[in-house]
Amino acid sequence: MKDIFGLDGHKALVVGGGYGHGRLTAHLLHEAGAQVAVADIDADRASNVANEIGGHAIVGDVTTPEGAKAIVDEAHDKLGGLTRLANVVGLVQMGQFIDNDPAHWKQQMDLNLMQHVYVCQAAGKHMLAVGDGAIAMVASVSGIYGASNQVAYGMAKAGVMSLARSLAAEWGPVGVRVNAIAPDITAVPRLTENFPGSEEEALAMFDTMAKGEGVPLQRFGRAHELARPLLFLLSDMSSYMTGQCLVIDGGTMVRFPHTTGGAKP
Ligand SMILES: NC(=O)c1ccc[n+]([C@@H]2O[C@H](COP(=O)([O-])OP(=O)(O)OC[C@H]3O[C@@H](n4cnc5c(N)ncnc54)[C@H](O)[C@@H]3O)[C@@H](O)[C@H]2O)c1
Repeated sequence: MKDIFGLDGHKALVVGGGYGHGRLTAHLLHEAGAQVAVADIDADRASNVANEIGGHAIVGDVTTPEGAKAIVDEAHDKLGGLTRLANVVGLVQMGQFIDNDPAHWKQQMDLNLMQHVYVCQAAGKHMLAVGDGAIAMVASVSGIYGASNQVAYGMAKAGVMSLARSLAAEWGPVGVRVNAIAPDITAVPRLTENFPGSEEEALAMFDTMAKGEGVPLQRFGRAHELARPLLFLLSDMSSYMTGQCLVIDGGTMVRFPHTTGGAKP
């Protein structure tokens, strides 16, 4: 088949690429022809994935402007350019709003929103300079729903979607696209590997939960079902899309909330 990804020769950085769907995204970008740098705060994770795909490992923390710039500039130097960026870093910290202290707000905002700002700003400088770039960030459906018990996380993820729209408007004229994905609960390794049982049992437990909650596709998503949309957003498959956020939730958001009825197999 004709190369529909158009990623041959591109230089791609995956931030948080050492594990989970970040790792799968690094693999897919490599398979589609890009040269890949894998950045992670965990040195072993970064080097393991870089070795798997013959890419470059970068170790660092993106939650400060200096840390994010160092990672991006190292990727640019090692790859000899930077035209594609996936950023999957983020983690929810649960807790009632009434109890959230300033340390909680700062930690959740730094990890889930501000690091995207720092990484985009550093990467944007390289992409704008060559008039070619695509960025895909991981938001969450928590940024769309009212997110009780995770108010800071929801606000941060809403900010990521806003960032994608604003940068799309600002950078579109120069040829740089910025998009995001918003996953619902996804059975990523971080969740399944901590389950006391086999991976199959963990996935079955997730799927039972999803059915009980009326998810139209009757299961929760898998890590590769986040990596593939990220590849899509970084490839020519989405060349006329910018400022968008793809909701990846098995249909939960479009379901009428007061019924769980559906066709029988
Ligand atoms: N899994 C879900 O159910 C779900 C749902 C909605 C959104 N998300 C979003 O998906 C994204 C990733 O989720 P996951 O569970 O696959 O992640 P993960 O925790 O499995 O992987 C994230 C990677 O990022 C690295 N990392 C963490 N902090 C870093 C930092 N400061 N600097 C550099 N690297 C850092 C970690 O070492 C890890 O390798 C997050 O943005 C999360 O909010 C996940």
